[in-house]
Amino acid sequence: MTTKQELVYRQLVTLPDGGRVLLRPLTHEDRQALIDLFAPTSADDRRYMRHNVNDPAVVGRWIDELDYDKVLPLVAVISDRIVGNATLHFFEGPARHRAEVRIFLNKEIRRRGVGSRMLLAITELAKRRSIYMVEAQIISDQTNVIKSFQKLGFELKCVLDDYFILPDGELRDVAHLIIRLRDFGGDF
Ligand SMILES: CC(C)(COP(=O)(O)OP(=O)(O)OC[C@H]1O[C@@H](n2cnc3c(N)ncnc32)[C@H](O)[C@@H]1OP(=O)(O)O)[C@@H](O)C(=O)NCCC(=O)NCCS
Repeated sequence: MTTKQELVYRQLVTLPDGGRVLLRPLTHEDRQALIDLFAPTSADDRRYMRHNVNDPAVVGRWIDELDYDKVLPLVAVISDRIVGNATLHFFEGPARHRAEVRIFLNKEIRRRGVGSRMLLAITELAKRRSIYMVEAQIISDQTNVIKSFQKLGFELKCVLDDYFILPDGELRDVAHLIIRLRDFGGDF
């Protein structure tokens, strides 16, 4: 369940190059800033994404349907501009101890350490929700992205053949990565 602590969560991050980024949960006031983050997404990037993020109606719906008990979105903000969005998707029933993370950063801000800090923050929020493990699915040819998740402690569990179909019908293998936040012995 969403806690007050989550609603007021703030982390001011200083990047290795000195840049400052605020990490906080997405709110209803962020509609235009979130649309502006996704609107410039290139056709190339969009091929690998689940939704047509260039469409303001699609992104606007995420704001309308904001429910932190289903999806907890964390945004990275620089000078009132959203430059990144990482979401933690919760499951139900026998999968309620797991959550899936997805992350997207503005192209101009990549390779400055923001993605790593967002993933660390979101796994911390998952821990606070008593989630046992966080998983990520990444197209297997995105080897750099897979490596960046591994650096943060995610383990490559398997590669699922032909698991993702691109808009033109091409099939792609998907890497399934998991980070364990708890063990049978308790928290670490
Ligand atoms: C994946 C993504 C979130 C990474 O965020 P980022 O802020 O660029 O990553 P960081 O700057 O924190 O880099 C972390 C590590 O990733 C590696 N890395 C990331 N992108 C890389 C690239 N294009 N080439 C080489 N290495 C790369 C680096 O090794 C880096 O480690 P270093 O600090 O030791 O150099 C970002 O590239 C993105 O939004 N990509 C598009 C969406 C996507 O692929 N999402 C993942 C699927 S859920």
